Amino acid sequence: MSTDFLPIKRIDHLEYYVGNAKQAAHFYDRVFGFRATAKLGLETGSRDRSSYLMEQGKARFVLTSALVPDHEINRHCALHGDSVKIIALEVGDVESAMGETKARGATVVQPPRAQQDSHGVLKTGIIKYAGDVEFKFVERGDYTGCFAPGFQSIEAHGSEPVGLAAIDHIVTNVHLGEMNYWVRWFEKTMGFTQLCGFTDKDISTDYSALMSKVMEDGTGKCKFPINEPAEGKKKSQIEEYLDFHCGPGVQHVAMNTRDICKTVRILRERDVDFLRIPDTYYDELRDRVGHIDEDYDELQDLGILVDRDEDGYLLQIFTGPMQDRPTLFYEVIERHGSRGFGLGNFKALFVSLEREQAKRGNL
Ligand code: FE2
Repeated sequence: MSTDFLPIKRIDHLEYYVGNAKQAAHFYDRVFGFRATAKLGLETGSRDRSSYLMEQGKARFVLTSALVPDHEINRHCALHGDSVKIIALEVGDVESAMGETKARGATVVQPPRAQQDSHGVLKTGIIKYAGDVEFKFVERGDYTGCFAPGFQSIEAHGSEPVGLAAIDHIVTNVHLGEMNYWVRWFEKTMGFTQLCGFTDKDISTDYSALMSKVMEDGTGKCKFPINEPAEGKKKSQIEEYLDFHCGPGVQHVAMNTRDICKTVRILRERDVDFLRIPDTYYDELRDRVGHIDEDYDELQDLGILVDRDEDGYLLQIFTGPMQDRPTLFYEVIERHGSRGFGLGNFKALFVSLEREQAKRGNL
């Protein structure tokens, strides 16, 4: 058995570049139940950027804005809108992670770097991924600070958490013809394996289609589906994303919950708009999925989708876009054995996605 040359401990955090980190932090707090636990900014000695660390369960998001006009963060936001810039993975040894991936073709953005403060040393290194997205390796070692040098803990007020427990998977959209390039890149450079794949025959409606392959690390903790558009009669939702994001990037982040009905009920009370699924979806659901612990009527009431495979079942729901551009959205997912991604739901989902896309005049 080959040894894993890139052992990953967990998804450390996601960093978003946004136009106004203070307002974004408020939104993630009040709507999604994240709590701001640390901050970097003028008060902490940062002259060019401001960042908020948002936490819920094991999930950590960092929301970052520039404080000065001529800055890569502003250029990123002008081009892509608010979007995910960094997918950070915790590793035991950054030197090794950078050395192994570089030797296998990774483009280095930031060589291994040690940052020190009174709480110890934190090591990081960054490599390029699709579009302007980057993978950051983080070695925490015995660093005891709240998050990273430069960050200071802040008094955690905030709304009630909604039960989001961890990041389940992170999906990237790439251009037509690029999916297999990134599949090979994950295999060769990161040592990941392909978990499953869908072709346009699995995922298509009359109008649009996509292809998707899921890459997974050796531990199964990190799952990265990659989508590319497929030929359809009209513009696919992936093309719409690529047009408005101006290139590849993170399409959705799926968040685990242990009680999806409760999570979704609270999110709906806080005015999160979820994709509306045709009622006909629920007519055939009971036959397709069979017995589950949840109440079908409640799922229908909340618009939650169900899918079953050989390992078990899963419950999932998708939000609308999180910004004016039809780009990043979220998925809430509760797994009961299934390790899949809801293939049986894709068709119902696409009908719904296309309805929204048509309303935006992009179909
Ligand atoms: Fe997903």
